[in-house]
Amino acid sequence: MSVTALIVAAGKGERLGGDIPKQYLPIGGKPALRWAVEALAGHPSIDAVRVVVGAGQQDLASAALHGMNVGDPIEGGPERSDSVLNGLEAISEGAVLVHDAARPFCPPEVVDRLIAALDKADGAVPVLAVADTLAQGAAFLDSPVDRKRLLRVQTPQAFHVEDLIYAYEEAGRSAATDESTVMLAAGLKVATVEGDPMLEKLTTPGDWARAEAILSSRLVPR
Ligand code: CTP
Ligand code: MG
Repeated sequence: MSVTALIVAAGKGERLGGDIPKQYLPIGGKPALRWAVEALAGHPSIDAVRVVVGAGQQDLASAALHGMNVGDPIEGGPERSDSVLNGLEAISEGAVLVHDAARPFCPPEVVDRLIAALDKADGAVPVLAVADTLAQGAAFLDSPVDRKRLLRVQTPQAFHVEDLIYAYEEAGRSAATDESTVMLAAGLKVATVEGDPMLEKLTTPGDWARAEAILSSRLVPR
């Protein structure tokens, strides 16, 4: 079965702000998107990498991906799920690892765990436990939340392409922020594997300092 990594990079990075969308901002001099592509393209179980690019971001994408073997960019849509669906239509078969360009560092062990888990489930996603105390409320706390039952869900997320297309047809394009949500809404079975703190998403300015620290710690091959 062929495995394609589908990297979605068509967002505008509105929470971060600024002129350049976050997936094109550099970490150690290299755009986040390029780190994300390199991490997956270098994995022995991944046969191909495709990238979904926003309308108007083609120049940024071609500069970031210069010299990389990722085929033609696929055009993104207004919501993340639109971008993913455009990508799935271009892939159409085999297994897919849907991954956020805003998660530049993907340890190869996470990919190993996802591909192994996909054998026995309709999908597989990396998760992390929650360390902090959790509560609901705003200015004052309303009620505590039992963190033992909560998981932080990361990408890449592994699926059989036809199952994921089916799930989107059943559940509809939604405001879902990931594919596991869509799969569960369609009644499909999604396995969990251990995630990794290195996979945390770049969202706000402090996240770049964390990413630079990961690089200086030499946990990531340059
Ligand atoms: N994404 C996409 N197409 C969209 C929206 C998001 O391909 N229409 C991608 C982003 O480029 C990112 C990933 O989905 O790699 C995760 O989305 P998020 O972190 O929300 O990024 P943005 O939508 O760009 O940021 P924001 O929500 O702050 O605007
Ligand atoms: Mg977003």
